[in-house]
Amino acid sequence: MARKKIALIGGGQIGGNLALLATQKELGDVVIYDIPQAEGMTKGKSLDIMQLRPHDGYDANLEGTSDPAELSGADVVIITAGIPRKPGMDREDLLEINIKIITDVANNVKKYAPNAFVIVVSNPLDAIVYSFYKVSGFAKNKVIGMAGALDSGRFRAFLAMETGYSAQDVNCMVLGGHGDTMVPITRLATIGGIPAQELISKDRLDAIVERVRFAGGELVKLFGNGSAYYAPAASAIEMAEAYLKDKKRVIPSAALCEGEFGVDGYFIGVPTVIGAGGIEKILEFKLLPEEQEMLNGTLEAVKKTVAETKL
Ligand code: NAD
Ligand code: LAC
Repeated sequence: MARKKIALIGGGQIGGNLALLATQKELGDVVIYDIPQAEGMTKGKSLDIMQLRPHDGYDANLEGTSDPAELSGADVVIITAGIPRKPGMDREDLLEINIKIITDVANNVKKYAPNAFVIVVSNPLDAIVYSFYKVSGFAKNKVIGMAGALDSGRFRAFLAMETGYSAQDVNCMVLGGHGDTMVPITRLATIGGIPAQELISKDRLDAIVERVRFAGGELVKLFGNGSAYYAPAASAIEMAEAYLKDKKRVIPSAALCEGEFGVDGYFIGVPTVIGAGGIEKILEFKLLPEEQEMLNGTLEAVKKTVAETKL
């Protein structure tokens, strides 16, 4: 069986870690695509990981490029392309630049990798994944945004840190947009199948939920120059692996809703089943009134940013 091909668009902090994880999991051959000014960096990261393979015995080829034709035939595309906010730049300026970038990227993916499963990571996530979908014209099951996997993972990590129990045995679900209006479904958080609410006091749980909401910002502050990259890369790779191996994983992700959870025409974080068909299903379940209210709040925030994309 021929190896699968994973194209990484954006070879920065997350892109480099995606390349490493894709290699270590032997998901396929990897192409790291970035702008011409970053070509040396993508070639350097690829070569460095090629040289890591003998130590662990992973079979994969990596290549760095600024030629979009190299995306040809990719099975999975993971997009982290974008620029961070610079001094003097407001949110709208940044969004305008990142919309231009995603438009360019979407046109290239449409031309060279029309059958790929596309995982969007770039921020503002909810607007960028929507823009990719609009510009590319891809089917809705082939376009997904990574946010819920990371936000739920952070919730899991904080509950494990609080109790000292294995993160592996903690299960959590965070829905909604990728921002401080996200919707952690606290009543469904479990540790070894036991409701977390029975193991942790309400005050501590509330504090943890608050930390989850601002976990991205906590890391931005700590780094001083950039945002999280290890856990975001691992989250996107989990989604890519679910697709490539037809695992039918149930992972909260930004998917185009058409009526589910009362959302119509927007990408928002919902439980998705990821398998060989891409997003095979959105698993709808009954939210409590206060949860639905939170989701409606996040939808308003998403609608506002999406309107700014003018797409
Ligand atoms: P980074 O700045 O290290 O990397 C971004 C890369 O994109 C750079 O190498 C840049 O040259 C490249 N790029 C710019 N324009 C491009 C184009 N037209 N085509 C191809 N590549 C292009 O940033 P990072 O830390 O890797 O983060 C990437 C993105 O992911 C950011 O938007 C960040 O905010 C976002 N992010 C999202 C989540 C999430 O949960 N969805 C989490 C963390 C970070
Ligand atoms: C995060 C931001 C940067 O780390 O999206 O969640």
